[in-house]
Amino acid sequence: MQAPNNMRQFVDDLESRGELKRISEEVDPYLEVTALSDPVMKATGPALLFERVKGAACPLAINLFGSRSRMAASLGVEDLQEIADRLKGLLEVELPSGGLVAKLMSVLPKLKELKAFAPKTVKEAPCQEVVLTGDEASLDLLPILTCWPDDAGPFITLPQVITADPDTGKHNVGMYRLQRFDARTTGMHWHRHKGGAAHYERAGELGQKLPVAVALGGPPASTYAACAPLPENLPEYMFTGFLMRRPLEVVKAKTSDLMVPAQAEVILEGYVDPAEPLRTEGPFGDHTGYYSLADDYPVFHITAITHRKDFLYPTTIVGIPPMEDYYLGMATERLFLPLIQTVLPEVVDYHMPAEGVFHNLVFVAIDKKHPGQAYKVMNALWGQGQMMFAKLIVVVDADVDVQDPQRAWWEALNHIDPQRDVLFTRGPADALDHAAQLPFLHSKMGIDGTRKLKDEGFTRPWPERIEMTPGVQAAALDRLKGWGLLPPEK
Ligand SMILES: Cc1cc2nc3c(=O)[nH]c(=O)nc-3n(C[C@H](O)[C@H](O)[C@H](O)COP(=O)(O)O)c2cc1C
Repeated sequence: MQAPNNMRQFVDDLESRGELKRISEEVDPYLEVTALSDPVMKATGPALLFERVKGAACPLAINLFGSRSRMAASLGVEDLQEIADRLKGLLEVELPSGGLVAKLMSVLPKLKELKAFAPKTVKEAPCQEVVLTGDEASLDLLPILTCWPDDAGPFITLPQVITADPDTGKHNVGMYRLQRFDARTTGMHWHRHKGGAAHYERAGELGQKLPVAVALGGPPASTYAACAPLPENLPEYMFTGFLMRRPLEVVKAKTSDLMVPAQAEVILEGYVDPAEPLRTEGPFGDHTGYYSLADDYPVFHITAITHRKDFLYPTTIVGIPPMEDYYLGMATERLFLPLIQTVLPEVVDYHMPAEGVFHNLVFVAIDKKHPGQAYKVMNALWGQGQMMFAKLIVVVDADVDVQDPQRAWWEALNHIDPQRDVLFTRGPADALDHAAQLPFLHSKMGIDGTRKLKDEGFTRPWPERIEMTPGVQAAALDRLKGWGLLPPEK
């Protein structure tokens, strides 16, 4: 199985697997596409290709990533665990007993492997088959959705926003929604902690405009990479290459030096000007299930639009979970476990359930060996990249399946004495945390739901979990099956 090279290839793959439904009746990008897609997403239904969108020149694809198997297929694997295992291999740097040179030698092949995934520059690209500048470069070309009734306008919801560090030229790609203000300007909703915002700030210090390109489509792996919380020193383009097992093809944008994914459907080219006053963006029906509040953000000016001759518009909607973005988050959860384990080897598994909308709730299972280890783990997690946003971390023992939130809660709630086992602390809040005491600053709660040790001061006996004698249980299940009281095993 190969990672798809572009969105239309992914659409074709999904269609041949029976995981995509084409809709030829006309639909309205104003609310109706959301009203049609939301129930399909909630039911883990197929990807949808709306062939005729009112007023638009192209079809609209949605829910392409909306199941665990489609998320895996988008990255060219049967199961996300395959990529997690590859990442683990890459991170497992054997440190032989020899001196420093021997150690470095063991690291080199791994670094070489990563280097092989550096992006490859091409001269001609499908995403530039049509080049529009001046008045022709108009967002009217795209079926941009107004998703929810109180949204401030139409929003581009699945963009890869590309900027370069003004000092080093190093590219960042982030998924930041864009509110359409008019045919040639949008909001630029990068939160202050994000890569694009850092480039914007630096451009402001240097008194420069910041060139921006926005890719829609391209290899699904590059769309995923845009929302992955990568460490700063791992560029999204290289990570995309790693995911695809081949370099990402990039081409120079027509009106700036930014490199953009050659296989994209559409590229919006332009700039943000740090000297320009911010503009109100939002409200927007967000992935918290609530409208994120209006706030001030930079304005993106579009100077050119390039696209394939026949292009499609990939998009998504967010809202009350679970929705399509849950599966993008799931990929991050699975792929980043080996990274977390390099820092915290006692972590057996972790899970961010849909109802926690990523940053509100994290379950962590640990192999606890010493007093206070649950606190070590929560504090360390709050110090890892975008885990800093986690509002509630619940730590349980290694034998608890954290992929099953009901079970994880049951174990944790049994094992806590709230006054003793709950830790409150403070830290940075996600911009979308509307309950935070201040924007970007909130308190956090850690719950130590592990079994308590004697050397943690717990001297009473700890009871055993109830379990039937295995032989008796197996025989009973056989009898129940015989009586038709249990469904046959799959
Ligand atoms: C569908 C979707 C929409 C998102 N919208 C935004 C957004 O508008 N602003 C933002 O800062 N992050 C948004 N995110 C999260 C970022 O994409 C994510 O934090 C990513 O790691 C940012 O990349 P960066 O670390 O390179 O800045 C969104 C994620 C998804 C899946």
